[in-house]
Amino acid sequence: MRYNITVLAGDGIGPEVVAETLKVLDKVGAKFGHEFNYDHCLIGGAAIDATGECLPKETVDKALASDAVLLGAVGGPKWDSQPANNRPEKALLGIRKALNLYANLRPAVVFDELKDASPLKSEILDGGLDILIVRELTGGIYFGEHALKPASPDNDLGEVAYDIEEYSQMEIRRIARVAFDLAMKRGKKVTSVDKANVLESSRLWRRTVAEVAAEYPEVELDNLYVDNAAMQLVRAPKQFDVIVTSNIFGDILSDEASQITGSIGMLPSASLTEGSFGMYEPVHGSAPDIAGTGKANPIATILSAAMMLRYSLGLKEEADAIEAAVDKFLKAGYRTFDLQAAPEHKVVGTEETGDLIAEMI
Ligand code: IPM
Ligand code: MN
Repeated sequence: MRYNITVLAGDGIGPEVVAETLKVLDKVGAKFGHEFNYDHCLIGGAAIDATGECLPKETVDKALASDAVLLGAVGGPKWDSQPANNRPEKALLGIRKALNLYANLRPAVVFDELKDASPLKSEILDGGLDILIVRELTGGIYFGEHALKPASPDNDLGEVAYDIEEYSQMEIRRIARVAFDLAMKRGKKVTSVDKANVLESSRLWRRTVAEVAAEYPEVELDNLYVDNAAMQLVRAPKQFDVIVTSNIFGDILSDEASQITGSIGMLPSASLTEGSFGMYEPVHGSAPDIAGTGKANPIATILSAAMMLRYSLGLKEEADAIEAAVDKFLKAGYRTFDLQAAPEHKVVGTEETGDLIAEMI
């Protein structure tokens, strides 16, 4: 089979980690008899430099016509002075909206070999940790009305700004269904996170999630306020299976969850729409401080490609092969620069990591 993948390498370490991922994908293609066809397109700072725009229309059109999108990372200090509507981050929000990628899956997993890397006491993580955060990605305060009003001579408020959090039942239902469908294939528990003691949008969220839950009698539903959820994540993270939450709460909680694993350089993510199409990217950012040093860990992107094979291309065995190779890499004692290494470990750079994992496929 031939698959068309839009590749958005982006900025900073993006191109480096993507190059290693394509190496691994090519090896999977050779082994399983698939042809992965890569269409490299511009996004973020790289797109601003080349075209003046952070998200060229051509990129969106090509992505829409492909089977899946693989993204490295965007942003860096070079583009900090760009106007708000043409920053690399804006490209990320723009492509999520343009491709209707409303369901963002962010696993927080503690890898067996890396359990000492977590900043939490080992007894808190005893038996491993496997949380899946399902973050709503195309609604809420990110995409509500934004405004900045000038200071008025009639009062002493100075400038005033607001951003509106708004959710429709349609948006809440569809993200809740994604969470419950995934919970059915996992631990059959969904924790919905909101701020229903304060926010009207959260009260609608909680009521609508409860309605969807009625369609899944096998799945246990728990509701937590976001402040409590943030606390529970560090106090007793193993109580969670699937967490479903709004765009902004999911942004914050997924960063927190990634830190408790101790290995953000290892964590992949998927952003999905209706059907099988999706965009796949590492949880980490563009790390401009280490770009070009050969020290970036490509594994989060390599594991994102595995998610792409599984969710968008329906290639389960091939996805398993990538995950098994990463496991083998760690078990063989290899560590990337971001991972804690003991004397018995061999620390390897970006390219060597890609070569070794490709070899282990
Ligand atoms: C993320 C990032 C983005 C977000 C930024 C870069 C716009 O933090 O993917 O979590 O807030 O969604
Ligand atoms: Mn974030």
